[in-house]
Formats: sequence, C-alpha cells, structure tokens
Amino acid sequence: MEIADRIVEVKREMDNFPIENASQLEAFRIHFLGSKGTVKGLFALLKNVPVEQKREVGQQLNALRMEAQAILDARKSELDEKTAENNKLDVSRPGEYTPVGARHPLSVVRSEIIEIFKRIGFSVSEGPEIEDDWHNFSALNFPPEHPARDMQDTFFVEKGEREMALRTHTSSVQVRVMENETPPIRTISPGRVYRNEAISARAHCFFHQVEGLYIDKDVSFADLKQTLLYFAQEIFGEQAQIRLRPSYFPFTEPSAEVDVSCSICSGKGCNVCKYTGWLEILGCGMVDPNVLEASNIDSKTYSGFAFGMGIERIAQLKYRVNDLRLYSENDVRFLKQFTPEM
Ligand code: DAH
Repeated sequence: MEIADRIVEVKREMDNFPIENASQLEAFRIHFLGSKGTVKGLFALLKNVPVEQKREVGQQLNALRMEAQAILDARKSELDEKTAENNKLDVSRPGEYTPVGARHPLSVVRSEIIEIFKRIGFSVSEGPEIEDDWHNFSALNFPPEHPARDMQDTFFVEKGEREMALRTHTSSVQVRVMENETPPIRTISPGRVYRNEAISARAHCFFHQVEGLYIDKDVSFADLKQTLLYFAQEIFGEQAQIRLRPSYFPFTEPSAEVDVSCSICSGKGCNVCKYTGWLEILGCGMVDPNVLEASNIDSKTYSGFAFGMGIERIAQLKYRVNDLRLYSENDVRFLKQFTPEM
C-alpha cells in the first residue's frame, strides 16, 4: 500500500478511536504515539520513499503526528475537567452512614452506680491494680494465715525486688483513702480486680467491683442499711427491697451480705432467684476498729461503714446476662444490644 494511503487510513483510525476514560486515553497514546506506535512505524518507511517525494511525505507524517498529539491533549483536558466536576462537593448527596458504637454494659452500669452515690455526696477514688500486701490484705485485718492470701486466689507478681499482688478486691482503695484523708470520708472506688480462678460462666480471672466507704463521727449500722436501700431502689426501681444476712469479712464487724428482692418474680420465686425471692448483690459491714487504726484513724472518735459489690453481678441482674465471659469477649453481636436508642 502506498504510504499516502496508509496516512489517510491512520487518520481515520485516529478519528474513530474511542476515548471515554483515562485508560482509553493511554491506549490511544501507546497505539499512535508510542515508541512502537503506528506513527513511528510510518516514519520508519520514509527511507523507502523516492527522494523527490520525501519532503512532501515527511510533512504529511509530521502533520499526522501533530494531529494525534492534538487529539490526545484535547481529550485529556476534557477528561480532567469531568473528574474535577465529579469530585466537587455535592451537598444534595445523601450522607454516608457512620455506624454508631455502643457503650460497654459494664461502663453503663459503672456510671450509673457512680451517679447514684454522687447524688448523696460520695466522691470517686481510685487505686493501683498492682497492689502490695499491706493495702490488699494486712491493713484490712487479714490474719497472716488467712486462706484468701493463698496462691489459689491471688496472682502474685514481681515488681523489682518486691512481691506484689494483683488486687483481689477494691477494698485496697479504702486503705489508701483512709491513709491520705481525714474524716469525714465518703467515697466509692470502682475498678478492676483479679482472682486466680478458672474461667467459666460464673467465674473469671478478672472482674470489676465498686467499693464504698463512709467514715465520720457516729456513723451507725442504720446509716449503712438506709444507704443500701436507697442504692437498691435507685438502680433496680422503687419496688426493690433489701435484706441483710449476717456474714464475715476480716475488715468489717459486724458484717452482712445484702440481697435484693427478685425483680423478675417480684419476690414470689423463680428460677433466677432459685425460688428464694432474693438475689445476693453485695457484702458490707461496719469498718473494723483494727482497720481504722491501721490507717491512723482514731476508732474511739470515728466509726464507719463499707460495702463492696461486683459490677458484673449488678449488670447481670439488670440485663439478665448469665455468662460472665460475654463481658470480656467483645463479641459485637453482644455489645451492640446496649446501643442507646437513637
Ligand atoms: N472485698 C469484698 C470482696 O471482694 C467485698 C466487700 C465486703 C467489701 C464487705 C466491703 C465490705 O467493703 O464491707 O468480696
């Protein structure tokens, strides 16, 4: 085929080449203007053209190359404009959905407990999770041979030269507050605690407690009972009743365990309360004088009460969650049930 005919043909090919997007644009460039492209190929044929025609054919080829470049430039700026148009902020587009997270049920319950006690003048205090023997046990009147110090219950850790414990209860914070403050003291201490237990539906190696402490002149057992009744009715509803059963803790004397009336069967008896009508929620008592003295508080002038409850236990009763493991597995299907109503 004559080179002149090829030029005409390539020109037609260029005009019909589809360029609707960036990859077609690039295909056009490679096909016509690339180092192995059609235009280069035609230039290579120039050497076979008779001398007297070389000049004219050369000019035609140059024109062809410029035309290809012109098409490329024009289509490129059209496409660029289109993309810029597409990227412009379109305020009428529907917003993109951002999923709302959920608060962890233990945080919800912890905050609720804090709010309830704040309303009657309790402050919030915290202490370390890695604790020494004094704050976790000795200052709380645990005799040296008390079984709770046993390896079975307590995780011991080395901290430098010292043997420390992961606190087994938030009662350790009581001691720290009493050492640092002078009565009147009214404080609650929420936090994580650790026990060396096999993990099951009913036990875990870590869980959460809220400790309460009230120390002043003339604090009585009646004050304790009334405070706990107020708490039970705030958290479980005004129909809630409490009962106290005698118990034993080294740091309180007398000590009691507190049950709340079963909100599921209203005290009539059901499988949740094991047909007793009552559910255990916390331990409490009058602070043992030995505990006050260990923290340099004069037990002749001051008296006080203390209580400790498990946050998981309160959450379990509020939300009917019966497996403790759910609280730390972070299964989104579990957690999203606590998403607040929008
Ligand atoms: N520390 C106890 C426990 O972990 C709970 C407790 C009971 C705390 C009685 C108290 C109390 O302050 O008076 O089981």
